[in-house]
Amino acid sequence: MIIEDCNNDVGPIGVFDSGYGGLTILSEIRKLLPQYDYIYLGDNARAPYGSRSFDIVYQFTLEAVKHLFDSGCRLVILACNTASAKALRTIQQCDLPKIDPTRRVLGVIRPTVEVLGSITKTGKIGILGTAGTIKSESYPIEIGKMYPGFVTYGQPCPMWVPLVECREWEGSGADYFVKKYIDQLFSLDAEIDTVVLGCTHYPLLYHKIMQYMPQGVTVVKQGAIVADSLQSYLERHPEMECRCSKGGGCEYQTTESSENFSSMASVFLSETISTKHITLK
Ligand code: DGL
Repeated sequence: MIIEDCNNDVGPIGVFDSGYGGLTILSEIRKLLPQYDYIYLGDNARAPYGSRSFDIVYQFTLEAVKHLFDSGCRLVILACNTASAKALRTIQQCDLPKIDPTRRVLGVIRPTVEVLGSITKTGKIGILGTAGTIKSESYPIEIGKMYPGFVTYGQPCPMWVPLVECREWEGSGADYFVKKYIDQLFSLDAEIDTVVLGCTHYPLLYHKIMQYMPQGVTVVKQGAIVADSLQSYLERHPEMECRCSKGGGCEYQTTESSENFSSMASVFLSETISTKHITLK
């Protein structure tokens, strides 16, 4: 086995989301890979991204990636489906070669699509996501490449992120919108047997989602899938693995109020954290 020499060129793994949703990914990554250092960045001041245009999501995501690189990250995970759908490919193909071809940015859509083949029996897949993710067609495109026989149905759920961001995921008002979007999805095809929660905020609504999901349908959450995929990536790329610092720490950054972020994030993470305010440009 080749022992990589990183010459102390190490830094934390960056995890980025428009707001709090990526914390559902971060917590699973840290459970599986506790040895690494992480920086979590939430662009809460400009969230939600779901209804924003392609150009704006790309611009905001690129600013976040550059900030995480400037903070020392060699590897950044876009823990946001909307950013993965609208910005990842351009950043990988056009920006990274200019910024630093040895750094990497990875998304959440591809690893999620990879597991679907081992779950579905009917080959009919439902995707619940933000308007931006669904409109981008990223899921049907990736699913079509990997599983040409599958049929994909996308359902935008524009009220779900605001419900989560406003801490209303347990509230009775959430039931109306949870039921509404699930019913709309299954009115497209009752044989859908696998539904992807294609937005990192949605696991907070999981209990309500399961109340209204037809029996026998498998609901796919992304956290553990993305964590497994990162572990496998680092095993296959020792030249990157040795550039990930190993102190077991995590720094939290937000573009909004650090007090608000810390208070909300502690609900997502079930632990108390402190947060640094930063500005993106
Ligand atoms: N959590 C993000 C995602 O996975 C979306 C939230 C937003 O609309 O900003 O798509």
